[in-house]
Amino acid sequence: MSSSADFVFRQLRPLFFSGDAETAHERMLSSVEMVSKIPGVIPFLRRQFREDLPVLHTKLFGKTVNNPIGLAAGFDKDGRIYPALFALGFGFVEIGTVTPLPQAGNPKPRIFRLLEDQALVNRLGFNSQGIQKLAGKLDSGTKVNSPEEADTINQSSEQHEKFSSGMLGINIGKNGDTSLERAREDYVSALSALHPFADYFTINISSPNTEGLQRLQEKQMLRELLESVCSRRDKLDQNNIRQTPLLLKLSPDLDDQGLHDCTRIIKEFPIQGVIATNTTLDRQQLKSSQKIEQGGLSGKPLKERSTEVVRVLFQELGNEVTIIGTGGVFSGADAYEKIRAGAAAVQIYTALIYEGPGLVKRVKQELAELLERDGINCVTDVIGIDS
Ligand SMILES: Cc1cc2nc3c(=O)[nH]c(=O)nc-3n(C[C@H](O)[C@H](O)[C@H](O)COP(=O)(O)O)c2cc1C
Repeated sequence: MSSSADFVFRQLRPLFFSGDAETAHERMLSSVEMVSKIPGVIPFLRRQFREDLPVLHTKLFGKTVNNPIGLAAGFDKDGRIYPALFALGFGFVEIGTVTPLPQAGNPKPRIFRLLEDQALVNRLGFNSQGIQKLAGKLDSGTKVNSPEEADTINQSSEQHEKFSSGMLGINIGKNGDTSLERAREDYVSALSALHPFADYFTINISSPNTEGLQRLQEKQMLRELLESVCSRRDKLDQNNIRQTPLLLKLSPDLDDQGLHDCTRIIKEFPIQGVIATNTTLDRQQLKSSQKIEQGGLSGKPLKERSTEVVRVLFQELGNEVTIIGTGGVFSGADAYEKIRAGAAAVQIYTALIYEGPGLVKRVKQELAELLERDGINCVTDVIGIDS
């Protein structure tokens, strides 16, 4: 059936791709949001797209997930359609970046398709409905932590079917007009408001579209930020008897020294994961005329650099910290490469735009085939074996 979903997507693709990229994305979000409210739709999607491949079962932060293929931040910034995204078969979904206060982001147009390069450039600048709205939305859903749990609670309950999920990550950022000196207050308030709903938090300090944000990756500022965020997380976890992993999302444009500084500081703090990487400012070897647009580049041209960053992180951090590889994953082979370089899991954004909803199932099947070809029984066995 996902092949018929693929067929429909390919037929409609010219239509999706004819206008402004953000308008098309918004249209998709509102249609899926609306359709998801119809009883039976989410379970139907699940039946079509979800596939259980035992070789892909893995653990992230001590929790079992169905597979190591996740949705990257920015696709569903305000948590509008995450139940449908889980139904497509992602093992984990990251919503956000959400900022404490609602904000509009940069002027439009601000997303560009680089068709010949299978890439996107965006300069959205954290358009966000803000943490209060997101907390309200998440609070109104019955969040269940794993598909298995959901299934044991009540198979026939539409509400549980709708919100049952794999792992839900929340990516947090700062408002555009918050100074860098006060940035940590924004991260702390986002963390506090959303703590009950997140299976993990990603601290986004690497978007190139919020002025100065990437400076939070510098030694002193990173230390101060992590001091505040970790101590707040620890307090909240203690009061609520839970453990919430904190992940740091890094830029592919850090040089060797910058990366090394980050890993050194990560080792000083109780940080459980790193996402490598966000979008790049690099524009080498692109064909599309849209390459002149300012913003962060994602998709195929980012693949090698993000894998390289995964490799460096794995060499420096080993298994102490979970690495998630993000950038240009379009196939099972791309995912396999990142996992062998050191990623425990991967995330996808741009390929989903180009390939449509059947992509997730295809990537999982291809990855499972590669593992079987190599005589591997469990995906975790290959993490970092090429580094
Ligand atoms: C349109 C767009 C918006 C994005 N918004 C965010 C965001 O809000 N926060 C974030 O951490 N990353 C954001 N990203 C970056 C992605 O999460 C991902 O790190 C990057 O696109 C590389 O993966 P890909 O090549 O599979 O797209 C965005 C990417 C795109 C294309």
